[in-house]
Amino acid sequence: MEFAPFDSSTATDADYAAIAEMRARMHAVDRVGSPLPTLATTLELMTKQDAAALARRNFWLARDDSGRLVGFGTVSFPEQENTETAFVSLEVDLGRRREGIGTAFLKAVLPAVQAAGRTRVMAMNVTTDGSDGERFAVELGAVCTLPGLMQTLEVPSVDRALWDVPAPDGYRLQGWSGAAPEELMASYTVARNAIADKPAQASDWEEMEWTPERIREDEASFAASGQDYRIAIAVHEATGEVAGFTEIVVRPSAPELAQQIDTAVLKVHRGHGLGRAIKAEMMRRLMAERPEVEQVATTTAADNSYMIAVNHSIGYTDARGLGHFEVAVDDLAARLGS
Ligand SMILES: CC(C)(COP(=O)(O)OP(=O)(O)OC[C@H]1O[C@@H](n2cnc3c(N)ncnc32)[C@H](O)[C@@H]1OP(=O)(O)O)[C@@H](O)C(=O)NCCC(=O)NCCS
Repeated sequence: MEFAPFDSSTATDADYAAIAEMRARMHAVDRVGSPLPTLATTLELMTKQDAAALARRNFWLARDDSGRLVGFGTVSFPEQENTETAFVSLEVDLGRRREGIGTAFLKAVLPAVQAAGRTRVMAMNVTTDGSDGERFAVELGAVCTLPGLMQTLEVPSVDRALWDVPAPDGYRLQGWSGAAPEELMASYTVARNAIADKPAQASDWEEMEWTPERIREDEASFAASGQDYRIAIAVHEATGEVAGFTEIVVRPSAPELAQQIDTAVLKVHRGHGLGRAIKAEMMRRLMAERPEVEQVATTTAADNSYMIAVNHSIGYTDARGLGHFEVAVDDLAARLGS
């Protein structure tokens, strides 16, 4: 068995095709309800910087003694917030599980995590509900610190009348793709930081601290990678302040899929139906400008009942449970005998 960092400089089209096929096979079982990886999305994931990712990803491959691909891993080290944490994700091919490959893979990755000075490993969005990933994580001493729910909105079958949501009295709805209008930047920045109020449960997760400069950098990075980064907001008319926002991204490799990023309403403006209004505004704009989108996917903390209900009210249905699992690096090393 060999576990090695993926080297894009020597990778061939056949390598990417094999990775895409293996991941599609696994995701059909492990991530029911999510779109399957394709060659295009795999190439984009592995060769382009993803502006929605929280850190640059390092990819790892596992091959058996005959050179056959049997596993895929991702390790990343966030540099601004969550600098104690390494994000690690491992996938072992169907039919090759419970042979110890996942454990050996983790042992191979651990020195890079330790060398980066990280004290905590986090596996994000692991399917729960008794999945292989959940059982493996628990066996290795990881704890689910942020149980969540994935919901999807299936555009071909949704009742679009659910999006006929007017702006609540005293607010107007607005939206854009790309860069925020300069005149809104100050209050838009305040609204972006309202995401820090969302339930964090047992996790020490640090939200990004937004500044106008950082928002501009983020917008530029979406644009540079050809991603359609779309925002809908509610503006409080009496003050001109941004009261809430919701953001999604559509990647060039999968124009039929939209991924929800953050949604937040400032505390003082909660209770007026703004969450529903901005999400409905987003869907109306998305359909007018990107009618090819067939599915929108979102993940929400399991105890965020308000957001989950808002999503139901505009046509999302529940796809599966998932969660962020965390373990201290020292505990993991001890468990692995490293
Ligand atoms: C999680 C995953 C990588 C584990 O790979 P693996 O090669 O099967 O893992 P291992 O063989 O090293 O398993 C180690 C131990 O974890 C536990 N374990 C793993 N899968 C389990 C399952 N389905 N049920 C119960 N226990 C399980 C067992 O204790 C196992 O030891 P044992 O087989 O001697 O009893 C694999 O199941 C997978 O790819 N799942 C989908 C992706 C995913 O959810 N990844 C999340 C982790 S980031």
